[in-house]
Amino acid sequence: MIFSLLSFALPTLIHAATVTFPPTVGLGTSDVQYTSSASSFDSLKIPNVNSTTYEWYYFDAISDDGSYSVVATFFVAPDTAFPFTGSPTMTLEVLLSIQTPDSDVFYLNGEFATNAQVTTDGDGASGVWEGTGLSFNGSSDMSSYEVVINSADLMGVTGTISMQSIAPAHYPCTANEAGVTMQLMPHVGWANAIPDSQATVQLEINGQNVSFTGSGYHDMNWGDIPFTDAVGTWHWGHGRLGPYSLVWFNGTSQDGSPFASGYISMNGAILATQCSGVSVTATSSGFDIEIDLADEGVFQAQFSTDHELLSFDGVYFRWSGSLVGGISGDEQYTGSAMFDEFDFSS
Ligand SMILES: *[C@@H]1O[C@H](CO)[C@@H](O)[C@H](O)[C@H]1NC(C)=O
Ligand SMILES: *[C@@H]1O[C@H](CO)[C@@H](O)[C@H](O)[C@H]1NC(C)=O
Ligand SMILES: *[C@@H]1O[C@H](CO)[C@@H](O)[C@H](O)[C@H]1NC(C)=O
Ligand SMILES: *[C@@H]1O[C@H](CO)[C@@H](O)[C@H](O)[C@H]1NC(C)=O
Repeated sequence: MIFSLLSFALPTLIHAATVTFPPTVGLGTSDVQYTSSASSFDSLKIPNVNSTTYEWYYFDAISDDGSYSVVATFFVAPDTAFPFTGSPTMTLEVLLSIQTPDSDVFYLNGEFATNAQVTTDGDGASGVWEGTGLSFNGSSDMSSYEVVINSADLMGVTGTISMQSIAPAHYPCTANEAGVTMQLMPHVGWANAIPDSQATVQLEINGQNVSFTGSGYHDMNWGDIPFTDAVGTWHWGHGRLGPYSLVWFNGTSQDGSPFASGYISMNGAILATQCSGVSVTATSSGFDIEIDLADEGVFQAQFSTDHELLSFDGVYFRWSGSLVGGISGDEQYTGSAMFDEFDFSS
């Protein structure tokens, strides 16, 4: 809050900065940032990605009943650093997937940009992945983001994903503040600009309209060594239950050490953002998520893996599905959630 007041008081000191990313992997060492600064929350954290470093912007939206979803990811990542991006030399992939009630994977497409520009203004960022027709546009206080898809020729898709934030940004263990760690586990960075938002999605895919409203989410990840050298297991997701917005992570680094992160906001204010007491346990129908809020009780939620949206080689899965839960002993709610699993441990 203090920073947004300052930016109103001192507008001439706030300058938008643009960084251009070439389409091919860089040489030499990358400069990688893992400690937060007072602004630029959503800037890319590696200005010069090489063959062993990576970063990406991620956006999703899911309808309240879980029957529609869309995911758009903007990569700066060779597949030597993140194994699913499709090229060791080209880094600027955009990946778009869309789920409708007719089909779990109605649409899935990846394309490479000819270059990318990312502009940071205040805490927000805007990016253009040239040649793909995909871009995004964030306000300087991160209260709103829009993904614009103008790719009739290349992808056969046009439209927008608009988000009005309802949950404050956070880092793995803290709220948005300067000088804190942005590492989710060693060698993996995470900044969650929009833990939850009111999302409006209006797309036209090869002449067919896909429109829905629901919960929208936006974050970024990055790393200074290849993802599979850093990560053993990874269970991440987010969802909404009545007044609550939830984001959870529980996983292990490659050496088996445990790490977790849990975030809950209620009616727009953070209840918890913590790095312990967050368990994610596989069940026969999905996963149980438990976030221990100490004096305020235990938040328990059951996620059902209703729709498999992506899978690679048995080591990566993405699901959407229903979420049921609340604070143990209090009112229980029903909503929807997105969930990603990586398992490189065996
Ligand atoms: C890429 O950058 C990282 C971080 O600076 C460095 O550790 C690594 O050696 C670099 N990789 C290559 C192939 O130069
Ligand atoms: C997107 O950018 C335009 C200017 O190009 C601006 O007017 C608009 O408010 C931006 N939208 C968001 C969500 O920041
Ligand atoms: C899709 O929606 C737009 C307006 O929202 C409308 O103009 C257009 O005709 C619709 N297209 C189809 C194929 O229904
Ligand atoms: C992660 O979840 C497991 C249950 O699956 C739990 O035993 C473990 O303590 C959790 N890790 C952390 C760091 O909270």
